[in-house]
Amino acid sequence: MTTENTDPAKEYQGDGSPQDVLRWALDRFHPRIAVATSLQDTVLIHMAASIRKDVRVFSIDTGRLPEETYACADAVRKTLGIRIEWYFPRHETVQKLETEEGLFSFKKSLEARRTCCFIRKVEPLHRALSGLDAWVTGQRKDENVTRNGLAMIERDSTHGNIVKINPLINWSSEDVHAYIEKHHLPYNRLIDRGYPSIGCACCTRPVEPGEDPRAGRWWWEQPEHKECGLHAGNWSI
Ligand code: ADX
Ligand code: SF4
Repeated sequence: MTTENTDPAKEYQGDGSPQDVLRWALDRFHPRIAVATSLQDTVLIHMAASIRKDVRVFSIDTGRLPEETYACADAVRKTLGIRIEWYFPRHETVQKLETEEGLFSFKKSLEARRTCCFIRKVEPLHRALSGLDAWVTGQRKDENVTRNGLAMIERDSTHGNIVKINPLINWSSEDVHAYIEKHHLPYNRLIDRGYPSIGCACCTRPVEPGEDPRAGRWWWEQPEHKECGLHAGNWSI
């Protein structure tokens, strides 16, 4: 049994490929494990569903997602047959934020931006993870300076020390695109329009060739601040 004090990375003895670590994780934790998807691509969903059809997948609808993200979600349902578990922010909190601070409060300051991310992403994530022993993310090391220290299997101290698995940690965007093509998978069409990293519509812009992949996320902020609290920082509730 993996308890809060054991190191889950030591328990895993496989070859470190995304499919192998996913198989270990699903065998070990299902149904108390879920894949978190931002619907940028469907690689993890496809890999996990190939291991077990009834894999749990959740996504957080911040209320500000691009149309292309919803289209990708619909394709996941129709072509991969996956029922996404959706989480929304608490409506009273969003109503209060928009009524008191307006619809673009996140542009006012780093603190205001983090407040919006907290309300629309971080708090719903806490609800999505409650009752789980493990979750799977699509984070990659090559995305940003904030992700250099990422591990494939780790304890998530901001979410009750549950196990966090990042199977694609060592993949590049080329690996992701090759997998999508090979398996004819649905993906977020914004990728074709110069968006290598996709979040809320109002906080994401395309990047220029050669620019950092996350340069288009909260583009008005410094690189070391480009996290919304889903993965970094002590944004506990
Ligand atoms: S973020 O912290 O900047 O928003 P990013 O977009 O890089 O995260 O996505 C990294 C991983 O976080 C995704 O692969 C996914 O596992 C998870 N994630 C991001 N956004 C969401 C979302 N809206 N719902 C569920 N999971 C998400
Ligand atoms: Fe709010 Fe922008 Fe964060 Fe989305 S990405 S939750 S709109 S600040």
